[in-house]
Amino acid sequence: MSCESFVNGEGFYNRLHLKSIMQILNLLHMKKNMIAVLTIVSIVFQYCSGKDAVTTNTSTTNNTIPVTTNTARTPTLPSTPYSYANQGLPSHIAQVLAAQDNTPADNPVTDHGATLGRVLFYDVQLSKTNTISCSSCHQPALSFSDSAVKSKGFAGGLTNRHSMPLVNLRFYKSGKMFWDERAATLEQQVLMPVQDMTEMGLTLDELQQKVAAQSYYPALFQNAFGSTQVTSERIAKALAQFLRSIVTTQAKYDLVKQGQAQFTPDEAAGENLFLNAGNITCAACHTPPMFITSSPAAAFGLPDATDQGINGTRAFKSSSLRNVANTAPYFHNGSVRSLQNMLAGTNGAIPQHTVAPRDVQRLLAFMQTLTDGTSILQEKYSNPFK
Ligand code: HEC
Ligand code: HEC
Repeated sequence: MSCESFVNGEGFYNRLHLKSIMQILNLLHMKKNMIAVLTIVSIVFQYCSGKDAVTTNTSTTNNTIPVTTNTARTPTLPSTPYSYANQGLPSHIAQVLAAQDNTPADNPVTDHGATLGRVLFYDVQLSKTNTISCSSCHQPALSFSDSAVKSKGFAGGLTNRHSMPLVNLRFYKSGKMFWDERAATLEQQVLMPVQDMTEMGLTLDELQQKVAAQSYYPALFQNAFGSTQVTSERIAKALAQFLRSIVTTQAKYDLVKQGQAQFTPDEAAGENLFLNAGNITCAACHTPPMFITSSPAAAFGLPDATDQGINGTRAFKSSSLRNVANTAPYFHNGSVRSLQNMLAGTNGAIPQHTVAPRDVQRLLAFMQTLTDGTSILQEKYSNPFK
């Protein structure tokens, strides 16, 4: 048996897996020797993996992890780029965007720029071990958030906070990013996970080198920026363009606002509570139509002694509540498992977020009208490496 077939699981390893080895050893009353045999199997396996790595890498030593050039993994892209710049927003959204947009003058969304950003967003080359991409913790089907309370980085370590959804980012007027707003702009934010020692673990030099080494990037940089030069500044701009292009416009809520659908009585009552209810006034902090925090400094109520929040004030940003029904768990520490729990105060009442029992169902019904799978599941936002 060659090393290759062993490692690839073509012959022996597939047919006679570890369970079968255990059974044979049991039959032969050789239990005591089992550990020794399993150790040998694992040594052969490691030897073979190492040997394979050497043959694909011209280096003569086999005790370093080879930097794979990954030529087999190239993105599939349309010959004419998808449309990202011209979003055709409905008027109830376009007007608000005009007043709230955090897009800087030197980095407008272009079709080629966002196309490059899309590839970068899904590329595992942006992590030290080639195992993690931005999308590992920001999954399209979850409104680009993560169902885990804390997300896993490249070496298995966990993030300090719960991942955030990445829709409607351009509607946050101040442009500040993260729960504690520590990134001043989206362009600054997007390079931070790359350099984070839990999340992706690269220096900016390593990032530039790895990106420049992939066969598919020169053409993408040429189209986006007019030359093939790879810089971290260009990487940041492209990622920011892609993310700013992700806007939700096709929820039931939008159809109702355009006169193309009607709320049910529960949904309508829920909207009224959200906008007007006496001491709740959810909308005072989560402003329509994108339901993104407008006053992150206001006391919102989740007790957490371990997190200092924005400038040590224990206040936090909240992302757009669009698609909120799909982004559980909730809050910066992921401590609230469902919207129902939050509204009903099941795990302890959170001031500003717990309502009378009769209103729970209405607010839930209304928040569900913010769900828009159509916009974010378009091909142009999906993983091009497939
Ligand atoms: C290992 C998981 C992980 C990876 C990988 C990751 N993120 Fe995140 N992301 C998070 C977490 C957790 C937060 C919230 C962190 C905080 O606020 O302290 C976050 C927050 C963000 C935000 C802030 C959103 C807002 O509304 O303020 C943006 C933007 C973002 N990530 C983009 C990216 C991009 C781009 C990449 C790839 C270059 C990436 N992330 C990779 C876990 C991850
Ligand atoms: C005083 C401002 C304020 C008011 C009023 C308020 N919220 Fe919030 N809300 C926030 C902030 C800030 C956060 C994020 C806090 C955190 O994660 O620590 C948040 C988080 C949330 C979340 C979780 C979002 C996520 O991505 O995890 C939901 C859902 C939510 N609010 C809904 C509501 C509803 C419904 C109401 C009315 C019943 C309401 N909020 C009233 C400020 C407010």
